[in-house]
Amino acid sequence: MLVSSTMHLLSMCVLSLVLSCCQGREDPNFRIRAVNLGGWLVTEGWIKPSLFDGIVNKDFLDGTALQFKSVTTGKYLSAEQGGGSIIVANRTTASGWETFRVMEAILWVFGKQFIGVDTDGNGIGIVAISKAPGHSETFEILRNSDDKNRVRIKAPNGYYLQAKTEEVVTADSQGNKGWGDDDPSVFVMKMTGRLEGEFQVTNGYGPENAPQVMRVCAAPLR
Ligand SMILES: *[C@@H]1O[C@H](CO)[C@@H](O)[C@H](O)[C@H]1NC(C)=O
Repeated sequence: MLVSSTMHLLSMCVLSLVLSCCQGREDPNFRIRAVNLGGWLVTEGWIKPSLFDGIVNKDFLDGTALQFKSVTTGKYLSAEQGGGSIIVANRTTASGWETFRVMEAILWVFGKQFIGVDTDGNGIGIVAISKAPGHSETFEILRNSDDKNRVRIKAPNGYYLQAKTEEVVTADSQGNKGWGDDDPSVFVMKMTGRLEGEFQVTNGYGPENAPQVMRVCAAPLR
Protein backbone atom coordinates (compact mmCIF):
# COMPACT_ATOMS: atom_id res chain seq x y z
CA MET A 1 0.00 0.00 0.00
CA LEU A 2 2.65 2.39 1.10
CA VAL A 3 4.91 1.26 -1.71
CA SER A 4 2.24 1.73 -4.31
CA SER A 5 1.24 5.20 -3.15
CA THR A 6 4.90 6.18 -3.06
CA MET A 7 5.26 4.92 -6.58
CA HIS A 8 2.18 6.87 -7.55
CA LEU A 9 3.54 10.05 -6.01
CA LEU A 10 6.83 9.46 -7.69
CA SER A 11 5.31 8.97 -11.08
CA MET A 12 3.27 12.15 -10.61
CA CYS A 13 6.48 14.00 -9.86
CA VAL A 14 8.12 12.60 -12.97
CA LEU A 15 5.09 13.59 -14.99
CA SER A 16 4.98 17.14 -13.68
CA LEU A 17 8.72 17.38 -14.23
CA VAL A 18 8.24 16.40 -17.86
CA LEU A 19 5.38 18.87 -18.23
CA SER A 20 7.25 21.73 -16.67
CA CYS A 21 10.29 21.00 -18.79
CA CYS A 22 8.25 21.19 -21.98
CA GLN A 23 5.96 24.02 -21.08
CA GLY A 24 8.97 26.28 -20.83
CA ARG A 25 10.12 25.51 -24.36
CA GLU A 26 10.07 28.54 -26.52
CA ASP A 27 12.46 27.48 -29.24
CA PRO A 28 11.24 29.22 -32.40
CA ASN A 29 13.03 26.62 -34.50
CA PHE A 30 11.14 23.75 -32.92
CA ARG A 31 9.11 21.99 -35.61
CA ILE A 32 7.08 18.84 -35.67
CA ARG A 33 7.58 17.14 -38.98
CA ALA A 34 4.85 14.97 -40.47
CA VAL A 35 3.89 13.55 -43.83
CA ASN A 36 0.39 13.43 -45.26
CA LEU A 37 -0.11 10.29 -47.29
CA GLY A 38 -3.55 11.21 -48.67
CA GLY A 39 -3.85 10.61 -52.38
CA TRP A 40 -0.80 8.35 -52.47
CA LEU A 41 -1.98 4.91 -51.43
CA VAL A 42 -5.60 5.94 -51.29
CA THR A 43 -7.46 7.48 -54.23
CA GLU A 44 -9.56 10.43 -53.15
CA GLY A 45 -11.47 12.63 -55.55
CA TRP A 46 -11.20 15.79 -53.50
CA ILE A 47 -7.43 15.55 -53.57
CA LYS A 48 -7.21 14.97 -57.31
CA PRO A 49 -10.53 15.67 -59.06
CA SER A 50 -8.91 15.51 -62.52
CA LEU A 51 -8.47 11.76 -62.05
CA PHE A 52 -12.13 11.40 -62.99
CA ASP A 53 -12.27 13.85 -65.89
CA GLY A 54 -11.86 11.29 -68.63
CA ILE A 55 -14.69 9.04 -67.50
CA VAL A 56 -17.46 9.15 -70.10
CA ASN A 57 -20.29 9.14 -67.61
CA LYS A 58 -18.43 11.03 -64.90
CA ASP A 59 -21.59 12.64 -63.54
CA PHE A 60 -22.83 9.22 -62.61
CA LEU A 61 -19.82 7.51 -61.09
CA ASP A 62 -20.53 4.25 -59.32
CA GLY A 63 -21.94 4.92 -55.91
CA THR A 64 -23.43 8.32 -56.79
CA ALA A 65 -26.56 8.88 -54.72
CA LEU A 66 -29.59 10.29 -56.51
CA GLN A 67 -33.06 11.39 -55.52
CA PHE A 68 -35.89 12.00 -57.96
CA LYS A 69 -38.86 14.26 -57.40
CA SER A 70 -41.79 13.80 -59.74
CA VAL A 71 -42.88 17.10 -61.29
CA THR A 72 -46.50 15.98 -61.47
CA THR A 73 -46.96 14.49 -57.98
CA GLY A 74 -44.43 16.86 -56.40
CA LYS A 75 -43.20 13.87 -54.35
CA TYR A 76 -40.06 11.75 -54.31
CA LEU A 77 -39.62 8.35 -55.86
CA SER A 78 -39.25 5.75 -53.16
CA ALA A 79 -38.49 2.06 -53.00
CA GLU A 80 -41.20 0.80 -50.66
CA GLN A 81 -39.66 -0.89 -47.61
CA GLY A 82 -36.23 0.08 -48.90
CA GLY A 83 -36.43 -2.63 -51.56
CA GLY A 84 -38.18 -5.91 -52.24
CA SER A 85 -41.30 -4.19 -53.44
CA ILE A 86 -42.70 -1.55 -55.78
CA ILE A 87 -41.40 1.93 -56.57
CA VAL A 88 -43.82 4.71 -55.63
CA ALA A 89 -43.79 8.50 -55.94
CA ASN A 90 -45.49 9.56 -52.73
CA ARG A 91 -42.82 10.85 -50.35
CA THR A 92 -42.71 14.47 -49.31
CA THR A 93 -39.16 14.20 -47.98
CA ALA A 94 -36.24 12.12 -49.16
CA SER A 95 -33.82 10.00 -47.17
CA GLY A 96 -32.78 6.32 -47.22
CA TRP A 97 -35.61 4.68 -49.14
CA GLU A 98 -35.77 7.63 -51.53
CA THR A 99 -32.09 7.47 -52.41
CA PHE A 100 -30.95 5.49 -55.41
CA ARG A 101 -27.37 4.63 -56.11
CA VAL A 102 -25.66 4.13 -59.42
CA MET A 103 -23.74 0.95 -60.16
CA GLU A 104 -22.63 0.57 -63.76
CA ALA A 105 -25.77 2.28 -65.09
CA ILE A 106 -27.90 0.20 -62.78
CA LEU A 107 -29.84 1.84 -59.98
CA TRP A 108 -29.95 0.17 -56.63
CA VAL A 109 -31.82 0.99 -53.50
CA PHE A 110 -31.33 1.14 -49.76
CA GLY A 111 -31.87 -2.63 -49.29
CA LYS A 112 -29.13 -3.38 -51.88
CA GLN A 113 -31.63 -4.53 -54.45
CA PHE A 114 -31.60 -3.33 -58.03
CA ILE A 115 -34.54 -1.64 -59.61
CA GLY A 116 -35.88 -3.18 -62.76
CA VAL A 117 -38.92 -3.70 -64.92
CA ASP A 118 -41.28 -6.26 -63.47
CA THR A 119 -41.11 -9.06 -66.01
CA ASP A 120 -43.76 -11.12 -64.22
CA GLY A 121 -46.47 -8.54 -64.78
CA ASN A 122 -47.33 -6.55 -67.89
CA GLY A 123 -43.72 -5.55 -68.42
CA ILE A 124 -44.17 -1.94 -67.31
CA GLY A 125 -44.18 -2.12 -63.51
CA ILE A 126 -41.08 -0.85 -61.74
CA VAL A 127 -39.86 -2.89 -58.82
CA ALA A 128 -36.80 -3.19 -56.63
CA ILE A 129 -36.40 -6.91 -56.17
CA SER A 130 -33.44 -8.10 -58.20
CA LYS A 131 -30.33 -9.10 -56.31
CA ALA A 132 -28.36 -9.97 -59.44
CA PRO A 133 -28.51 -7.25 -62.07
CA GLY A 134 -28.69 -8.05 -65.76
CA HIS A 135 -29.96 -6.34 -68.88
CA SER A 136 -33.45 -5.77 -67.48
CA GLU A 137 -31.96 -3.54 -64.79
CA THR A 138 -29.99 -1.12 -66.94
CA PHE A 139 -31.48 2.36 -66.81
CA GLU A 140 -30.40 5.49 -68.62
CA ILE A 141 -30.71 8.93 -67.13
CA LEU A 142 -31.33 11.61 -69.75
CA ARG A 143 -30.83 15.20 -68.71
CA ASN A 144 -32.58 18.20 -70.14
CA SER A 145 -29.90 20.29 -71.87
CA ASP A 146 -31.33 23.57 -70.52
CA ASP A 147 -31.83 22.45 -66.95
CA LYS A 148 -29.55 19.58 -66.08
CA ASN A 149 -31.51 18.78 -62.95
CA ARG A 150 -34.54 17.79 -65.03
CA VAL A 151 -34.23 14.21 -66.13
CA ARG A 152 -36.07 11.31 -67.68
CA ILE A 153 -35.26 7.78 -66.67
CA LYS A 154 -35.24 5.35 -69.55
CA ALA A 155 -36.06 1.79 -68.62
CA PRO A 156 -34.54 -1.25 -70.33
CA ASN A 157 -37.83 -1.87 -72.17
CA GLY A 158 -37.15 1.32 -74.14
CA TYR A 159 -39.81 3.41 -72.38
CA TYR A 160 -39.48 6.12 -69.77
CA LEU A 161 -40.57 5.94 -66.17
CA GLN A 162 -43.61 7.97 -65.29
CA ALA A 163 -45.37 8.68 -62.03
CA LYS A 164 -48.95 8.10 -63.14
CA THR A 165 -50.15 8.67 -59.61
CA GLU A 166 -48.32 8.85 -56.30
CA GLU A 167 -48.63 5.10 -56.00
CA VAL A 168 -48.27 3.94 -59.59
CA VAL A 169 -44.89 4.30 -61.27
CA THR A 170 -44.57 2.55 -64.61
CA ALA A 171 -42.16 2.29 -67.52
CA ASP A 172 -44.46 3.09 -70.42
CA SER A 173 -43.99 6.73 -71.37
CA GLN A 174 -42.78 7.78 -74.81
CA GLY A 175 -41.10 10.72 -73.07
CA ASN A 176 -41.70 13.05 -75.99
CA LYS A 177 -43.81 15.81 -74.47
CA GLY A 178 -41.19 18.40 -73.56
CA TRP A 179 -39.86 19.16 -70.11
CA GLY A 180 -42.78 20.93 -68.48
CA ASP A 181 -44.33 20.31 -65.08
CA ASP A 182 -47.25 18.53 -66.71
CA ASP A 183 -45.31 15.52 -67.98
CA PRO A 184 -45.27 12.62 -65.49
CA SER A 185 -42.04 11.27 -67.02
CA VAL A 186 -40.07 14.33 -65.90
CA PHE A 187 -38.26 14.22 -62.57
CA VAL A 188 -36.13 16.75 -60.77
CA MET A 189 -32.92 15.00 -59.84
CA LYS A 190 -30.81 15.80 -56.82
CA MET A 191 -27.35 14.39 -56.31
CA THR A 192 -26.78 13.82 -52.64
CA GLY A 193 -23.55 11.93 -52.58
CA ARG A 194 -20.67 10.90 -54.70
CA LEU A 195 -17.90 8.38 -54.20
CA GLU A 196 -14.51 8.93 -55.77
CA GLY A 197 -12.02 6.19 -55.23
CA GLU A 198 -10.10 3.44 -56.96
CA PHE A 199 -13.25 1.49 -57.64
CA GLN A 200 -14.71 4.39 -59.59
CA VAL A 201 -11.49 4.88 -61.56
CA THR A 202 -11.25 1.20 -62.41
CA ASN A 203 -14.87 0.82 -63.42
CA GLY A 204 -15.05 4.19 -65.12
CA TYR A 205 -12.05 3.68 -67.40
CA GLY A 206 -12.21 -0.08 -67.59
CA PRO A 207 -9.53 -2.58 -66.59
CA GLU A 208 -7.39 -1.84 -69.68
CA ASN A 209 -7.11 1.92 -69.23
CA ALA A 210 -7.42 2.41 -65.50
CA PRO A 211 -3.82 1.38 -64.62
CA GLN A 212 -2.54 3.86 -67.21
CA VAL A 213 -4.65 6.66 -65.71
CA MET A 214 -3.40 5.85 -62.25
CA ARG A 215 0.22 5.80 -63.47
CA VAL A 216 -0.08 9.11 -65.32
CA CYS A 217 -1.71 10.79 -62.37
CA ALA A 218 0.77 9.39 -59.90
CA ALA A 219 3.80 10.46 -61.93
CA PRO A 220 4.17 14.04 -60.60
CA LEU A 221 4.62 12.60 -57.12
CA ARG A 222 7.87 10.94 -57.98
C1 LIG B 1 -47.03 5.27 -50.54
O1 LIG B 1 -47.65 4.25 -51.29
C2 LIG B 1 -47.51 2.93 -50.76
C3 LIG B 1 -48.10 1.95 -51.74
O2 LIG B 1 -49.46 2.18 -51.93
C4 LIG B 1 -48.13 2.88 -49.38
O3 LIG B 1 -47.94 1.59 -48.83
C5 LIG B 1 -47.46 3.91 -48.48
O4 LIG B 1 -48.08 3.93 -47.21
C6 LIG B 1 -47.56 5.30 -49.12
N1 LIG B 1 -46.77 6.21 -48.32
C7 LIG B 1 -47.16 7.46 -48.11
C8 LIG B 1 -46.24 8.29 -47.28
O5 LIG B 1 -48.19 7.93 -48.57
